[in-house]
Amino acid sequence: MTTSKHFPAFRDRLPSMEGKTVVITGTTSGTGNVAADTVAGLGAKVLVLNRESGRSASSFALLTAANPDAEMHKVECDLQSFDSVRSAAETVRSLCPEGVHVLCNNAGVMALGDQATVDGFDVQMQTNHLSHFLLTQELMPLLELAAESAGEARVVNHSSVARLRPSKVLMAQYLERNGGNLGGDGTRVQNMMFGGPRWMRYNQSKLANAAFTAALHHRFRESGSKVMALVAHPGYAATHLQQTSADHGSTSSVLANFGNRFAQSAEDGAMGILSCMCLPEAESGQFWGPGSGASAMRGPAEPFALESFYDNEATRELLWAKSEEAVA
Ligand SMILES: NC(=O)c1ccc[n+]([C@@H]2O[C@H](COP(=O)([O-])OP(=O)(O)OC[C@H]3O[C@@H](n4cnc5c(N)ncnc54)[C@H](OP(=O)(O)O)[C@@H]3O)[C@@H](O)[C@H]2O)c1
Repeated sequence: MTTSKHFPAFRDRLPSMEGKTVVITGTTSGTGNVAADTVAGLGAKVLVLNRESGRSASSFALLTAANPDAEMHKVECDLQSFDSVRSAAETVRSLCPEGVHVLCNNAGVMALGDQATVDGFDVQMQTNHLSHFLLTQELMPLLELAAESAGEARVVNHSSVARLRPSKVLMAQYLERNGGNLGGDGTRVQNMMFGGPRWMRYNQSKLANAAFTAALHHRFRESGSKVMALVAHPGYAATHLQQTSADHGSTSSVLANFGNRFAQSAEDGAMGILSCMCLPEAESGQFWGPGSGASAMRGPAEPFALESFYDNEATRELLWAKSEEAVA
């Protein structure tokens, strides 16, 4: 297991989360698992949203065992299905009459094949962005409720340095019902070199995470809402992401595991989302991660401004219109 360099000192700086209700997607491993464990340890009521699996059951058992005093709930939510997301939101509403103080849209998949979901969208775009757009829309009344009583609530999205590759232009076709028809699975060389259609679909989904944050931030500001929109990236973190990618044919497990030797730990990678979720100094419209450039792969999370290649009116409008159309 990779050693955490920065997380222990970072963890000590985090404030109490007592009295706060936190909803996180994708907590079976990786950054989401660290975030759920951390905020539960800080006193929050935590709802973890995962698709049903042995990984979901065993990770929840470990999280509750590690945090015996925390109120934790496991909610079934498969981000490959809009019906499942709507049903998860219904469960959250029944469990959280007090509202939701933090929604962390963390879950993700990387470089999967050219596959359509049951709703007809690209599996990466629906899992990584469209279902999180829907979940956020469904939980907005609870976020507004918490913001009114506590003075603020937060939506935290999880992007990547992949947003910087290669075109930096969000394209409508990736947000439309074109699943299974977005370039195929690429060659072995393309897949190994982070090029080709699998990676293009991942890049677009991670660009969508950042553009969604920009669009939300502007909307909140215009409406005078006390809900904040923030986004993070983990650099390169040794999680299960690379293995899931290998399981779907993007590369070999050997290469995925070899690459992880050069990554920082999942804990260090979680500092970006945790900064956005917990730090009092974090502000709406900020991006947190180990630097803003393409080589920002490790280190403490620091804030930087949303970038103009997605924080512009045309991209924000495109993201919003296409996402609303998709989940309608
Ligand atoms: N690790 C990195 O270097 C890196 C770099 C840049 C960005 N990120 C981003 O960080 C976020 C967290 O990833 P990670 O690195 O921590 O990877 P991870 O360990 O694979 O965690 C991903 C989580 O997403 C969940 N998930 C995947 N498909 C889902 C679905 N259909 N419905 C519900 N949950 C689903 C997984 O659950 P299952 O057990 O059900 O698969 C898992 O809990 C992702 O958004 C990723 O894009 C990671």
